[in-house]
Amino acid sequence: MLIDNHNRVINYVRLAVTDRCNLRCNYCMPESGIAFARRSDLLSIPEMQRLCTVLAELGVDKIRITGGEPFVRKGVMKLFGHLSELDSLREISVTSNATLIGPHIGEMQRMGIKCVNISLDAIQPETFAKITRRDEFDKVYGNLMKLIASGIEVRINCVVLGEQNISEIYPMMEFQEKYPVRVRFLEEMPFNGGSRDFKGLEWNHKKILGHIRERYPDFEKVPAPMTATSVNYRIPGHAGSFGIIPAFSRTFCGSCNRLRITATGDLITCLYGKPVANIREPLRQGASTLEMRGILEEILGQRSKDGFEAQERFGPVTGSSMTSIGG
Ligand code: 5AD
Ligand code: SF4
Repeated sequence: MLIDNHNRVINYVRLAVTDRCNLRCNYCMPESGIAFARRSDLLSIPEMQRLCTVLAELGVDKIRITGGEPFVRKGVMKLFGHLSELDSLREISVTSNATLIGPHIGEMQRMGIKCVNISLDAIQPETFAKITRRDEFDKVYGNLMKLIASGIEVRINCVVLGEQNISEIYPMMEFQEKYPVRVRFLEEMPFNGGSRDFKGLEWNHKKILGHIRERYPDFEKVPAPMTATSVNYRIPGHAGSFGIIPAFSRTFCGSCNRLRITATGDLITCLYGKPVANIREPLRQGASTLEMRGILEEILGQRSKDGFEAQERFGPVTGSSMTSIGG
């Protein structure tokens, strides 16, 4: 089992399979993109498979595949196939922008992938186009409907961006009223690759909930695991539910059970920190499980207690982009 210096069990890994994306969400990266990693620096699919096998041996029982956009990476389905054969994994999940997932839904279902997070910050086409700087709404909406119909659990991650998409909050609420999805509203974080200024957070979790309460005064809290990042609610009679993720206020850090691994093998022990080691060369040189365990134990033994401490220790976070961190 992997345990950090604050006695937290680390059983959840978020693995980015690429830092590239076919959208250009303005809170994530500039229109021109960022300096993407060299292909030779990316972990190969077999390297990721080996890494995940070792992680599972070390007690990790939940792996989320992220990006960039995971489905722009060739071979990602092979990786899912491998994960689905690791018996000790309790949960395999993915975070995707839903532009390219359509053709893979059936296979994902057969592999036992039970939950998909869709990053979607607008349910009205014009707002979507403005935020993502791409014209992909119809495809995303179609795939969202396909996912819901497949019975895979769907969560929508909607980053609250002030005046850009406040007008989307009620339409999103109407969506969860009608469909069995959980819409989760995220506070914006300063990881936008220099795309725009981040002048502090206006729409924090309290303000978001207050706005929802104005229209929907009657909601009840849904119990959540201790390690959850979202506070979830349900409204009697609605098919779905909603939640709020205080991603900037960081109220959930105390019980953090996550380790992030980027597409190039950087190990990140806190979203508000910086890479603390890289696992690519050890993997390429055929490191044993024991050697990899040593690397992981070393970095987890120096983990910041929360995102504020990490930020203080590692310096300003502006400039980095979620597309390379993996979310
Ligand atoms: N602030 C908040 N959330 C962000 N994401 C990407 N960039 C940011 C940001 N600057 C979200 C994505 C995805 C999740 C992993 O993180 O929309 O749903
Ligand atoms: Fe792509 Fe997600 Fe970044 Fe949007 S937020 S550009 S979908 S990686």
